[in-house]
Amino acid sequence: MRKVTYKVGTDIALIKYWGKKDEVLRLPLNSSVALNLDGLTTTTTVEFDGSYNDQVMIDGGVVKGGEKDRIVEQIQRLRLISGVDLPFKMVSENTFPRATGLSSSASGMAALTFATAGALEMDLTQKQLSILARQASGSACRCVCGGVVEWHEGETSEDSYAETIFPAEYLDIVDVVVVVGSKQKIISSTEGMKRLYDHQFMKVRLEGVNQKISELKRLIKAKDIEGIGQLVEAEALEFHSMLLTSSPPIIAWLPETVAVMHKVQELRKQGLGAYFTINTGFNLHVLTTPSDAYTVETLLSKMEQVQQVMVSGVGDGPKELTEHLF
Ligand code: DP6
Repeated sequence: MRKVTYKVGTDIALIKYWGKKDEVLRLPLNSSVALNLDGLTTTTTVEFDGSYNDQVMIDGGVVKGGEKDRIVEQIQRLRLISGVDLPFKMVSENTFPRATGLSSSASGMAALTFATAGALEMDLTQKQLSILARQASGSACRCVCGGVVEWHEGETSEDSYAETIFPAEYLDIVDVVVVVGSKQKIISSTEGMKRLYDHQFMKVRLEGVNQKISELKRLIKAKDIEGIGQLVEAEALEFHSMLLTSSPPIIAWLPETVAVMHKVQELRKQGLGAYFTINTGFNLHVLTTPSDAYTVETLLSKMEQVQQVMVSGVGDGPKELTEHLF
């Protein structure tokens, strides 16, 4: 059997996926839109062979417990479809801190799905890969595509998948990723979504989300970075208002996170194009223009609260590599 390696960029959701209508199939309550990133990637090698023992290594360490179970579950899903029943070895490396709110499971599960399908010699379309990746981690379904990506909510497993709505080169936007902590985030997205039961704001959010997606597409089409930034920052704060009012509440931010938010607002007052968005962790993404990127990066990295800054452009999707990790 083949040894296969894929490099997959993670993404940043501009309109967030938050809540499931089917937890097993991972069907979302709403469609979402994300930017694929070329600067934050996961590379994964998978091989099936009778001499292996379902071994999982990520970032140099052997993975066990719940994290391993989710990986084995995804491999098993593909093994069943392919009819191959051999043990595997998987080695994966991230270029960014894992489980800190920078969506390592999105690129991780997408890379796993691509490498596994390749190693099992399965001939799958991008749509089929997206549907399979979704079942491992919802946001992973978007990382099978490059550029600006929309995950269509769908009603069934077959129509809940992602596709590129604008190619990578369409939008000149830079993501300055700001790391203020590298400890594990307080709650996984999977667990966080379970706290949404009967959420008081959900009806209002779902009533407005399709309109928001249409407006975002209009702004992207017009290449209006300021409009995109304002909409995306407001969406991130709406999303966190849902976290804060969940039961029990989720306070994802650290004091350092809030300091960066204030700094971004200050940078705007100085005339720079800078807009933050954030997922369930404490690390942030600051969207900016290519001409302001260097200044934004420099000023943010000088803050005492900031540990690391990574700059990413828009990615154009998964790549198969000929160099393997083992
Ligand atoms: C806040 O895709 O990690 O990052 O489907 O349970 O694995 P599961 O959740 P996951 O949730 C991501 C949530 C988010 C927003 C987003 O990326 O759209």
